[in-house]
Parts: sequence; C-alpha cells; structure tokens
Amino acid sequence: MIISEKKEETRNQVKEWKRQGFRVGLVPTMGYLHEGHQSLMEAAKRENDKVAVSVFVNPTQFGPNEDFASYPRDFEKDAALCEKTGVDLVFHPDAGEMYGEGFCTYVDMEGLTKELCGKSRPIHFRGVQTVVSKLFHIIPADKAYFGQKDAQQLAVIKRMACDMDMDIEIVGCPIVREADGLAKSSRNTYLNAEERQAALVLSRSLAAGRKLAEAGERDASKVKKRIEEVLGEEELARTDYVEIVDFADITPIENFAEAKKGEVLCAIAVYIGKTRLIDNFIFQLQKG
Ligand code: PAJ
Repeated sequence: MIISEKKEETRNQVKEWKRQGFRVGLVPTMGYLHEGHQSLMEAAKRENDKVAVSVFVNPTQFGPNEDFASYPRDFEKDAALCEKTGVDLVFHPDAGEMYGEGFCTYVDMEGLTKELCGKSRPIHFRGVQTVVSKLFHIIPADKAYFGQKDAQQLAVIKRMACDMDMDIEIVGCPIVREADGLAKSSRNTYLNAEERQAALVLSRSLAAGRKLAEAGERDASKVKKRIEEVLGEEELARTDYVEIVDFADITPIENFAEAKKGEVLCAIAVYIGKTRLIDNFIFQLQKG
C-alpha cells in the first residue's frame, strides 16, 4: 500500500493506473476510521481495480467554535485498517500541502446547503465542496464513495458533480450502525458512558418516525412531531433540528407525496452534552 503526503505524487500514481486501464475508486475521509468508512472502502474494492482513500481533517469545513483542533486523529491505526481492507493508496496531506499559500478559491452552492446542517454550520458545505472537488482533481477516480450517514453531504456532492460536469460517478452507501443502533461516527468517541447510552435516543426517535411512515402517515409535520416527542424523553439530549425534506434537492416538504423522486429524507441533529450527532433515514415511496 502506498502512503503519499504529496498531491503531485498521488496524481501521477492514479494517472499511471488509469493509463494501464485500471478503474479507480476514491473514498474521501477525515480519518479516525471505523466500520462505516470501511464499508465504503469495501464497496470501492468490489467495483474498482484500485482503491484510494484520503485521510485529511479539512480545516475549511469547521466553523470557528467547532471541533477542528480536538477532532480525533490516529493515522497509524487508520493506515493499518486501510492496509487490512486492501486499499492501494492512502493520501494523507497536511493543511499546507492541501491549501497552498495564497489559496482563495472556493466552491459554493445556491441551494441544498442552506437547510438542515447548513443552518447551524453556515460555512461547512463550502469547505466540504471545496476539498472534495480538490480531491477529485488530485485523484481522478472513476467513482467516489460517500455514506448516507451524512445524507445532506451526499446530496450536495451529487449536485456539485452534476452541475460542474465532473467526470466521476458518486456512489451512496448505507449507514453502518453499532449493534444497539447508534450510527457509527468518529465523534462517538467524545461521549462518556452516560452520554453513550443517551445517544441511543437518535436512532430510537427515527425508528418511531419511520414506523409512522410505514403505517401510511404522509403528513411530514406528524412524523416530525413523533420524532421530537421521543427526543424530548431524553434529558441529556438537546435537539438542533428535526427536518423532513425532499432528498433530491433538500427542500422542506409538508407531505411525503411531494418528494420529486419518491425519496423523503428525515434528518436530525442532536447535542448529547457538548457532542453534536446526526442521523437520518430515507423513506422510499412506492411508485404508482
Ligand atoms: P468523515 O466524517 O470521515 O466521513 C467520511 C465518509 O464516511 C463520508 O462519506 C461519511 O458519510 C461516511 N461515513 C461516516 N460514518 C458512516 C457510517 N456510520 N456509515 C456509513 N458511512 C459513514 O464526511 C467527511 O469525513 C468529510 O466531510 C469529507 C467528505 C471527507 C470532506 O472533508
């Protein structure tokens, strides 16, 4: 497995693979890898000849009062997990290599980024779009893999790739959870034992909302209310948002039937103590 800290070396290697006719899959990450990330690597392995993983805690997607400095990092462990999973190249630049002197170009979006996480994290998606488009240029892969865990991010990246005619296929992968239902996240490591238990309220509230939808409820406000009720039962939880939107363009809907491609995203962000966690489910409307 190649570990590269340099953009040029990385690009040359990937170009060489392309010249040899290999299909290349890319998995962008911020490291502190867990089974959620690993599931993306495995999907990339199944569908490509070579797999590249980027490990870079991207400063431009963190707000001034967010956890950039304390974001967990353990590159040795990450590299070992990549090696074990059969990854071919790990790109691990530092911030100076990624953002050279005088850097001042950003990728921004008019829609999709203003709702949900965009409300409490106003510069977040600009940073994500910028770093992901840089990664697409440094690693000219055929396919890039993103988790539904960050459903808004997945929708934003799909939109960006389409709008900017990027020559790459964006593949979405299902949420990987702990046995008790908590969605795997690098940020789960911030939780103490009591908070870890309290964090189960996220998946529990979504399960209650999904149950209503599965029983035929199509009024978004009723499903939202049910999710809020369950979240309200947990003392350590403070809700940032509960939103029901059209997954296609992240616009709020009143009735599930409004979802243009039949996919309704029910997404939540909840503080457990100081830790902000997100989770969601996508409800597919039956066609016809
Ligand atoms: P990070 O949080 O490290 O996540 C990297 C990828 O792993 C994302 O596509 C995310 O959705 C996916 N992922 C995380 N937890 C998952 C889980 N439990 N199940 C399935 N997939 C999961 O997302 C980022 O990094 C950054 O914003 C990045 C795209 C790398 C840009 O900096």
